[in-house]
Amino acid sequence: MKLLVTGGLGFIGSNFIRYMIKTYKNDEIVNVDSLAIGSNPANITDLRESKHYLFVKGDIRDEVLMNNLVKDVDAIINIAAETHVDRSITDPKLFLENNTLGTQTILEAIRYSNINARLLQVSTDEVYGDIIKGSFKETDLLKPSSPYAASKASSDLTALAYYRTFGLNVVITRCTNNFGPYQFPEKLIPKTIVRAAMNLSIPIYGTGKNVRDWIFVLDHCKALEAVLKRGKSGEIYNISSGNELTNVELVSRILKIMDRPQNLIKYVEDRPGHDLRYSLDSSKIRKELNWNPENAFDSALDETIKWYKENEKWWKPLATEEILNPTPWKSK
Ligand SMILES: NC(=O)c1ccc[n+]([C@@H]2O[C@H](COP(=O)([O-])OP(=O)(O)OC[C@H]3O[C@@H](n4cnc5c(N)ncnc54)[C@H](O)[C@@H]3O)[C@@H](O)[C@H]2O)c1
Repeated sequence: MKLLVTGGLGFIGSNFIRYMIKTYKNDEIVNVDSLAIGSNPANITDLRESKHYLFVKGDIRDEVLMNNLVKDVDAIINIAAETHVDRSITDPKLFLENNTLGTQTILEAIRYSNINARLLQVSTDEVYGDIIKGSFKETDLLKPSSPYAASKASSDLTALAYYRTFGLNVVITRCTNNFGPYQFPEKLIPKTIVRAAMNLSIPIYGTGKNVRDWIFVLDHCKALEAVLKRGKSGEIYNISSGNELTNVELVSRILKIMDRPQNLIKYVEDRPGHDLRYSLDSSKIRKELNWNPENAFDSALDETIKWYKENEKWWKPLATEEILNPTPWKSK
């Protein structure tokens, strides 16, 4: 198989490509990435020599480039996106243009250059908005709270419209919060680890009672593999592990593992529109595609912290004041 992965220099993209190259020795993978914030060429240094891997610097909004790249592949896994909710509050237009129009450009390229190619659109639990009790199913209403979530929801709906109107082979995944190696330090878990390692205070938004369901990135990658190979066209698959924690519980646990004092926690002003709880019902992918998460939360968190400790060289250049900003949505 020949696959086109978009956004493969980011956190999930680089983990996905590494997993697929190791698992499918004869597959070819082309990675197109625009080197936006969140990307890091150091995420895939180990793959550069592989004969089955090719990197192309480019933007998914570039029609000519996307037509060329899509032409001869079996599937496209659209992972590329502007991904930080906090930054979407300071620059909503960038998120809508990049994520929604980027996805639409890929859909057009498939429509004109390779109508049989499959598109796996990688989306997020944030498209449903928050839920106080219970868990969202794939059929639930979309009610995004942030410009980031709105840009992802619009991308999903556009992909479904191309499935219905033009007969494109589209599948969509919606996953909960990921963690693991190579995650950019603007996100909660790496930011906490890096700030704790630097002996800086750990900012917690509002009351710290916001709940997220955490999944180890490799489990997400294997779910993407399952949907890519066995997912039914036109369908949506929720992906979750069932590791719900409040932000303050999570940060407190990381500090404990790192042997840092709990008084590093510093409550800061809450982010506007901050969703209280995310929760997904992932019984569909478990039953229909026989996917189940394999990594227990505690050991995966230990492994992640160990990875950051052993890879200071990777995160040190990224640990700038701007990236580690305690309230990024306020800076413009
Ligand atoms: N991280 C999570 O917890 C999580 C959870 C569910 C879904 N997702 C989705 O997974 C995807 C990847 O998330 P991530 O955390 O790895 O993000 P990331 O920010 O680490 O990586 C995103 C990558 O996309 C690239 N990119 C952005 N815009 C581009 C464009 N126009 N053209 C080409 N490349 C572009 C960036 O350069 C970067 O390498 C996103 O679509 C996100 O919505 C993430």
